[in-house]
Amino acid sequence: MSIVSETLPSGATADGWHLEVLPEVSSTNTHAARLPAWTAIRASTQTAGRGRTPERRWVSDTGGLWLSAVLPCPAPRSRWEVLPLVAGWAVLYALEELGVSARLRWPNDVMVGKRKLAGLLVERYTEDTAVVGVGLNVFNHPDRADTALSGQTVRLADLASGDHNLNEIAATMLTSLRAGHAQLLRDGFSAIADDLNARWSDPRPVELTLVGQPAPLRGDFLGVDPRGRLRIATTTGRAIYDATQVSLLRELD
Ligand code: BTN
Repeated sequence: MSIVSETLPSGATADGWHLEVLPEVSSTNTHAARLPAWTAIRASTQTAGRGRTPERRWVSDTGGLWLSAVLPCPAPRSRWEVLPLVAGWAVLYALEELGVSARLRWPNDVMVGKRKLAGLLVERYTEDTAVVGVGLNVFNHPDRADTALSGQTVRLADLASGDHNLNEIAATMLTSLRAGHAQLLRDGFSAIADDLNARWSDPRPVELTLVGQPAPLRGDFLGVDPRGRLRIATTTGRAIYDATQVSLLRELD
């Protein structure tokens, strides 16, 4: 994959989306907080890119895709609890379009083998929208920007062949997010959960740190239930946790 010039100007649309492109923002998610549905923003760099946990800053150097997309979330609110999983699932399909096979580490870290290709941060700032933030390593060098990431990340440029530019990659992501959103609205989560669980069919040993519990819990990750909650088998039996109860999932193999 090689770097080609960016052909789409700011304001171009992809599949009904309005895509705004800015050189630098603090965080595209923060910037998108009050934008209307079907608006997306991409920045060349973020000065305060945010990860899923408060202590996790997101390295956002030039050449990566730092994208936030605003999706409509009509009531009931409970329907959208699975949106982080649906968004991760949509990103997997977008990557397939780009010729890359990746996997999800629950809930929505996008991995190739043991290395992280992309991360997602889904936030609700208003009652009727959600912001889906996607950080995808493309041509950037996260491990040069932060040496602690050495050996832990992978870039799309090292995996995909052909010429792609960041706006084209953004458009592929946005199309897939729109399709995932439409499927969730139309058919609910169950077929998406089945597909995710088929991808997670091999039990994977994990260590879970639960909110407010210092001692981690070990067991086999068994995928998600129809409400998107994590299922785990431990030596004492099976348990189910929702995302707000889990502060960290570490894969052990
Ligand atoms: C994680 O893996 O912890 C989530 C990382 C999410 C990073 C993206 S980059 C675009 C958007 N803006 C942010 O500040 N964060 C998300």
